Amino acid sequence: MLKRTTCFKGKAAAELFYSTKLERKGAAPEPIKATLFGKGGVQGLDQREHQHRKKLFMPFMESSNLDDLFNLTHAIWQRRIKSWIGNPEISLYEEAQLIHTEAICEWFGIPLRKDEIPEKAKELTIMFDYAGAKDLSYFKARFKRKKTERWISEHIEDIRKHPREYSDSYLKRFSLFRDLRGELLPLNAATTEILSALRPAVAISLYVVFLAHALHQFPDRARLMNTEKDRFSFIQEVRRFYPFFPVIPARARENFVWRNHEFIKGQMVLLDIYGTNHDERIWKHPEHFMPERFNDRPENPYDFIPQGGGDHATGHRCPGELITIGFMNVALHCLTEEIDYHVPIQDLKINFSRLPAIINSHMILNNVRPKS
Ligand code: HEM
Repeated sequence: MLKRTTCFKGKAAAELFYSTKLERKGAAPEPIKATLFGKGGVQGLDQREHQHRKKLFMPFMESSNLDDLFNLTHAIWQRRIKSWIGNPEISLYEEAQLIHTEAICEWFGIPLRKDEIPEKAKELTIMFDYAGAKDLSYFKARFKRKKTERWISEHIEDIRKHPREYSDSYLKRFSLFRDLRGELLPLNAATTEILSALRPAVAISLYVVFLAHALHQFPDRARLMNTEKDRFSFIQEVRRFYPFFPVIPARARENFVWRNHEFIKGQMVLLDIYGTNHDERIWKHPEHFMPERFNDRPENPYDFIPQGGGDHATGHRCPGELITIGFMNVALHCLTEEIDYHVPIQDLKINFSRLPAIINSHMILNNVRPKS
């Protein structure tokens, strides 16, 4: 947009990006806010206000809160798998969207009839799948977001009117959350925050597609998965190797110089997350798919950043990482332990030119049958 912008990658860049020299206010471009992020949400807040709002999401980072979600997700996978058997073919991307929509809505406390699931899965998918579109589908995403926002805000308003009639749930906690001044969040901000949990949970269907792609493209690596640790390393390598959203935006809070590069107050800064996960200074043979690189790898919050870096509670790092890994774990288990299937000839190339990047064919499977 003809504005001075610094784009950088790597561990040191990520450390600077998550320091107090940069801020998020006003960083996300309007077209992305209108589809993907929504307005008034945690992504655009800084410092005390950010840390207070982040408390809403931190229970997602406690594994004891997530067992029910993963058991529920597994049961839904098993039910969907039954419907695949005898079907000529299924699209894994679309199936995972349905599974994740049903699981996250039920777990969050959002009432959804079975016949509403396909429509809501489509609405939540459009919010991330067309967010970067350069044609009319972008406006479709904007329009759909409004409809989805109405669906959520009606629930919030009802809870606020009749709180006693609702038992405890994430929906209720998000609806009644108060800001630092003790005020209920504005309706649009509360809606944005609820959608910031539902939408990305459905977006994990992209990672399910990448998982199946990796199982197919790298069968020798898949065969080496014998223990829980191997499975974890495989999932981490999928999160490192495949592209998702490429960059995160921020703005310089002040004038400063970093490694001979001048940053001007207010200028745009982009952290290249895909580039950092493929940076040859961090990763040996970054373009090779090697799950074993994660065996016993010490964790560092700035060098492996598929969902952002730094600290989950005090910084902007994604609070959905455990949900993401857990959903991928359920998918990996079902694809490798519960079914056999055939991958017919299809276009398995990754389309890097769209946002988010995706496998062109969406991963079609046929001849799905229970594991022999
Ligand atoms: C933030 C990626 C799943 C909720 C982020 C960020 C990235 C990201 C790159 C920005 C980090 C930053 O600004 O520094 C992903 C990917 C996911 C995923 C690739 C898997 C598909 C989830 C899930 C949830 C979630 C499952 C919640 C249920 C959020 C929220 C933020 C965020 C609320 C804003 C955090 C903040 O600004 O403090 N995510 N995410 N994400 N993510 Fe995720």
